[in-house]
Order: sequence, then C-alpha cells, then structure tokens
Amino acid sequence: MASPERGMWGSRMGFIFAAAGSAVGLGNIWGFPTQVGQGGGAVFVLVYLFCVFFVCAPIFISELILGRRTQRGAVGAFAALAPKTKWWMVGALGVMCGVGILSFYAVIAGWTVAYIYFTAVGGLGSSADEVSAFFGTFTASGPLTVGLTLGFLLVTAACILGGVRAGIERVTKTLMPLLIVLLLILAARALTLPGAAEGLKYYLRPDFSRIFDVNVLTAALGQAFFSLSLGMGALIVYGSYLNPKDNLGVAALWVILLDTAIALLAGFIIFPTGFSIEGFDPSTGGPGLIFTVLPQLFATLPGGALFGSAFFVLLAMAALTSTISLLEVPVAHCIDEYEWTRKKAVVVLIGVTFTLSIPSALGNGAVASLSNFSAALGGNFLGLMAIVWNNYALPIGGFLISIFVAYRFGLPKAIEELTAENAWFPSTGLWGFLIRTVSPAAILLIFLSAIWPLFS
Ligand code: PFF
Repeated sequence: MASPERGMWGSRMGFIFAAAGSAVGLGNIWGFPTQVGQGGGAVFVLVYLFCVFFVCAPIFISELILGRRTQRGAVGAFAALAPKTKWWMVGALGVMCGVGILSFYAVIAGWTVAYIYFTAVGGLGSSADEVSAFFGTFTASGPLTVGLTLGFLLVTAACILGGVRAGIERVTKTLMPLLIVLLLILAARALTLPGAAEGLKYYLRPDFSRIFDVNVLTAALGQAFFSLSLGMGALIVYGSYLNPKDNLGVAALWVILLDTAIALLAGFIIFPTGFSIEGFDPSTGGPGLIFTVLPQLFATLPGGALFGSAFFVLLAMAALTSTISLLEVPVAHCIDEYEWTRKKAVVVLIGVTFTLSIPSALGNGAVASLSNFSAALGGNFLGLMAIVWNNYALPIGGFLISIFVAYRFGLPKAIEELTAENAWFPSTGLWGFLIRTVSPAAILLIFLSAIWPLFS
C-alpha cells in the first residue's frame, strides 16, 4: 500500500522530466567523454549504443513495470512479487548501489560547483598545462573537496525533504532545456575550431580492432547502465510514483533517447575542442578531462567567463537531479520497509554516504595512499568505486532484473502492465525477446569475457 510518505508525479510529463533528470547528469557530460577517451574513441561509442538500445532499454522498461505494478521501492517490489524467496536481495544490492554511487558522485558534483566560481573569476591559466595543473592542485586540496562534497550532499537532502513532486519535477522542468541550449551552443563553437575535424574522426571513425577488447566492452556496458540510472532500482522507485494511466513504455523510450542524445552531444563538444589543443591525448585525460578541456573552449567565446560559469551552474543542477534519485532509492527503502519518516531516512543515509565519500574526496592527491592505485583498479579510490558500482554492481543488478521479469514474474503479466489502459507500445514481441535473451546473454558474455583471463 502506498504510504502517505510516498507521492505521485503531477503528470506523465512530470515523470519524463524527473526520470530524465535522474538519467542526465555527470554520467553524460563528465563520464561519457572520459570513457570514450579511455576506450579508444568511436569504437567505444558503437558498443555503448548497442548496450543502450539492445541491453539496457528492455531492462529500463522492466524496472518501471516492477515499480508501477507493486507501488514499492527496490526491495519491496521483489518482496511483494516473490515473497519468501531471496529475490529481495536484488533490491538490497540496488540500495547499496545508491549509497555507493552517491559517495563518489557527490565528490565530482562538488568539483563542478567549485568550477562555477573558478570560471567566473578566471585564474585557471591559459595554456593547456596551466589549466590541468590548476585542476590537479584543486582536487588535491583535502578540506576544500571534502567540504564541497558535504555541501552537495546537504543540498540533495534538502531537496529530497521537499517531497517527490515539488523537489524533483520543478528543478528539472526549468533547467534541463537550458542545459541543452547551452550544450548546442558549445557544440557549434567546438565544431568550428581548428582541429575539430581530427576530433570528429576520433569520435566517429571506429578502430574495429578493439571491438572485442574486454575493457571496452565492460566499460561501455557499465557506462550505459550508469548513464541511464539503471540496474539499482532507481527506476523501480520512479515507476512506483507513475500513474496507471500513463504510457510507461513510450515515456521510457523518450528518456532513453534524450539521455543518449545528451551524452553524444557532450562528445561533439569535448573531442573537437580537445584536438584543437596542442599535444592533446584523450586517453590520458582521466576524470579531469572536461575540467581541463572546457575552460579552453570558454576562452574562445565572447563573454567566456560568464558562459563557462553558467555552464557549470547547469551541470551542477543536472548532477543534483541525479543525486536526488540516487538518494531516493535507499530513502524509499527505509520508508517502506522500516516505516521511518522521510526525515529520519534522509538524515541517517546522508551521514552514512558522507562518511563513505571521504576517501573518494581525498584520493585525488590529498592522501597519497588513496590516490595511486593501478590502472586496473581505477587509478585511485574514486576510480575504484566507479568500477565496482558502475561496471559490476549495476550490470549484475540489471542481469538479475531481466531474469526476474522474464522468468519469475513472467512476460504475460509484464506485458499486461506495459500495455495497461490500452497503452500503445511499438513491439511487445521485440521487447519480450530482448528481455528474455539478448539483455541477459549480452551481460553474461561480457562478464565472462572479463573474468576469463583470471582462470586461463
Ligand atoms: N544517471 C546519472 C548520470 O548519468 O549522471 C547517474 C545515476 C543517477 C546513476 C541515479 C544511478 C542512479 F540511480
């Protein structure tokens, strides 16, 4: 039963904006270009698109089905549909992902907040070396980055305490269109820089020799899950606030298309700009890629400082609508299962997440032992967290969700929910085929290829 601590979206558009707010965030604008750079360019983009449409989209719809059907959070949905089994553990994994991802996400979100100020007042330097040295010095400052992380978590908490509709819908509805306009302007400018053609070649012409590179495959799969907010029950929670009259499938497709378009757009900004900078190597940019490349682009624009600052405001807001949904998963869980008040849930969970975020904040130069991991372990503590949660936990969650919907809950009931109130959906047959075979098989194959070298 929906408790009064829950809520409902104002309309289907409200849901689309909120789910898009969850999906569009640092994953698109910071994560995607960084991963493309490390994954060898266009070949990563190709694998990513395959993962989004053939592996993730069917699971995205499945999560919404589970949420709307049960009106429960991540754990409750499984407990309601498969009582007295261990399936609730899939939801529990999602709750842990919420806290785990938020713990490193808030650190990067804190960086974007600082860059609002840095780009406005200038002083980042003018050469590529100066701009990246500035980034290195800034992220190595422990108290500052820990403070920014805490600040971002507290703002997230305040929004969540505002309730579902007021908190999430409103922010996204106003700011997302603005973000898209700014990105389009930046892309137009980036594409006219000298060197843009080379950047485009890197971004769009795949080097097929890497198409079976397990690092590319696992990173692209993980990035697709992360960018779509998938595999951890965030969309079960959002689906549980969805009205039975809304067309769930079509809403899902809109969100997926929008999220993917924005990630691709970010690539059209970063790579043309990057390649216009002398000595640029996309593979070594690491998590600082956008923070070192974008200031160079702003410098070429009239009113660049103001423009750059506005860009980071919108990026921070996009991150905020994502952190809200990351926190909403464990919050909804505590409200539903332990009957906590929303306030208690938020306070306790922010405390736990902040504690966990400290090593991620300090692992960028402030504390040497957290800052120098091997490349396989993500380079530093923050990188390790990203690998554990994005590349492993989310796809494992997604795999189990696909198995649950296809084989335990069952396709007939799932399709009944998908097409409730005569909702139109392009092809329930294709969806059923993908969720039963392609999604789980692709995740399994990618995982097996990743762990195979350990045994051979
Ligand atoms: N999709 C978000 C992004 O791309 O920035 C990150 C995220 C939000 C992941 C919410 C998972 C989630 F539940």
